[in-house]
Amino acid sequence: MQAEITLRVDGRSRTFTVDTRTTLLDALRDRLGVTGPKRGCDHGLCGSCTVLLAGRRATTFLTFAVANSSAPIVTAEGLTGDGLPHPLQRSFVDHDGYECGFCTPGQICSAVGMLDELRAGWLSAVTPDVAEPAEPSDAEIRERMSGHPCRCGAYVNIVAAVRDDR
Ligand code: FES
Repeated sequence: MQAEITLRVDGRSRTFTVDTRTTLLDALRDRLGVTGPKRGCDHGLCGSCTVLLAGRRATTFLTFAVANSSAPIVTAEGLTGDGLPHPLQRSFVDHDGYECGFCTPGQICSAVGMLDELRAGWLSAVTPDVAEPAEPSDAEIRERMSGHPCRCGAYVNIVAAVRDDR
């Protein structure tokens, strides 16, 4: 079955027809040419396909394109503003928070969403005192980014990059 949808990706609306079984990841990559979200594990487990969907981090392999016709989607490419990198993108560069770069767009989108969750007072399994706002400690960053394996093992620098967000 086919359906016409409009996706709002990185501030631009695109209308096209898709098979209703098309994942959001396939629609972004194969139909719109937005290649920041990566096809990693093909199960939505490794986080490489992460974008910000209505402001929340989401794995695009685990949702259908037709289900997201009205939600604003921000990919790693869309985080830049006025030609300048997002502070987290700059921090990943400054701290060498990558090696091959395959996981990096998902890591950065997830870090942006994770820091928003942290600032909003969301708790994690390692938050030391549930009565106090969590700080972006190394333990909090590791816990909240734990769904993002890095095949190159750049974890030390990824944590430093997220901690030094500015
Ligand atoms: S930088 Fe290579 S997989 Fe993370």
